[in-house]
Amino acid sequence: MLSPATIFGGPAVEGRNACKLVRTKDPGRLVPTIRFEQEGQQVGCIEGANLRRAALDSGLNPYKGLNNLNNCGGVGQCGTCVVEVVEGLNNLSPRSDVEEVYLADRPANYRLSCRTTVNGDVTVRTRPDDGAGKGSNSLVGAVKSLFGR
Ligand code: FES
Repeated sequence: MLSPATIFGGPAVEGRNACKLVRTKDPGRLVPTIRFEQEGQQVGCIEGANLRRAALDSGLNPYKGLNNLNNCGGVGQCGTCVVEVVEGLNNLSPRSDVEEVYLADRPANYRLSCRTTVNGDVTVRTRPDDGAGKGSNSLVGAVKSLFGR
C-alpha cells in the first residue's frame, strides 16, 4: 500500500525551464519530438521535458471541461491531466507511484502528463474519452487505492 507521503510528496518534475520548446519541421532534428495527435501539432522539446508543460507551452490544453478549473496545477494531486500514449511509451519516464494510484484501472499507455518526462519521440492523445473523472481516476477511487480497498 502506498503512503500519503508517497502519493502526494515526491520530487517536483515540473519547474520553470523544464521545457524549452522548439517548433520543428526539420526531419533531421536532434531534439525529442512530441506529436499531439488530436491537435495535429508537432513540437520539439529538450530531453527531460515535462509533458504537461510542453502541451501548455504549445498552446494545447491537457484538461477536459471543468478540469480546467479544478486541476492541481501540475503537482500530481488531481489526476486530470491524462494523456493516452499512442507511440513511444518507452521514450517516457516510468509510471510514478501517483500514476499507479490514479490510473490503476487504465491501460499502461495512459499517463498523467504532469508526472511524465519526455526522453525521446512520442505521440500522445490529449483528453482521452475515458481519461479522467471515472473509476480510479477520481477522488473516491484514489482514496480507495490509497487505503487498499
Ligand atoms: S495536473 Fe493534477 S495530476 Fe496532473
